[in-house]
Amino acid sequence: MRDLIHLTINGKDVEAPAGTTVLEAASSAGIFIPTLCYHEALEPEGSCRLCIVEVSGALRPGIRVSCIQEVKEGLVVETETERLQKNRRLILELLLGRSPYCKELLDLAARCGVVTSRFLTGENDDCIRCGKCVRVCRDKIGAYALCWVNRGNQRKITTDFERLSEYCIGCGSCAQVCPTGAIRMEDRGNERKIFTWGQVIARFTLEPCAQCGRPFAPKKYLERIREKAYKPKGLELVDAVCPECIKKKETMPPAVTDLSRMQFKVW
Ligand code: FES
Repeated sequence: MRDLIHLTINGKDVEAPAGTTVLEAASSAGIFIPTLCYHEALEPEGSCRLCIVEVSGALRPGIRVSCIQEVKEGLVVETETERLQKNRRLILELLLGRSPYCKELLDLAARCGVVTSRFLTGENDDCIRCGKCVRVCRDKIGAYALCWVNRGNQRKITTDFERLSEYCIGCGSCAQVCPTGAIRMEDRGNERKIFTWGQVIARFTLEPCAQCGRPFAPKKYLERIREKAYKPKGLELVDAVCPECIKKKETMPPAVTDLSRMQFKVW
């Protein structure tokens, strides 16, 4: 069991296990800190800077990024100082400049007191540059199908050479973590497409479910499950089963229910 660390957040005494971040400690104490690039299933990267807090006590006084700052005994944290609010408002205004109609961003901005932006670019982009899609694809799936290109306000996420990706395995994890729907996955008949910004970045033929025969998963995806989840355990993936059939797992033989757990816990 990890040691408990004692700190103060906005004047409130908080206890958190050693190794947790200030953001996690605040959130378990019911204190809201805005975040954009944070996702509980991914390693924090600290890139959006919305979750900044002011610290003192156990650390040199200053601004820290709460999603990567570990708790320390005696740490004093403030989450809503004038300086922090000003910084966050600027970040949100810059993001809104490119995504002025993005509902998720507008909701977060409103919560931080921002209703409009001085930096409108005329763009209407749903990608808010949180980078979760790049990280899940790289760190959890190991496919490296998405990457950042360009700098400053030209920075964007795309595939290698902005072409149909040869590395994408069609798992749809990027679409799953995307908070705004800027990346979408669409299955029609026996074809799966992954889109970003209206452009198809990957296209697959779906393999049929071994139980019901419905096309449901790309071959590359099933191969990845075989490699990542089955092989290390000395198991062999023989038949692939779709999520609907998995829900009926109580009527299935044990080997199939085992597959269901593996398939949806690749990351
Ligand atoms: Fe911490 Fe983005 S949530 S930097």
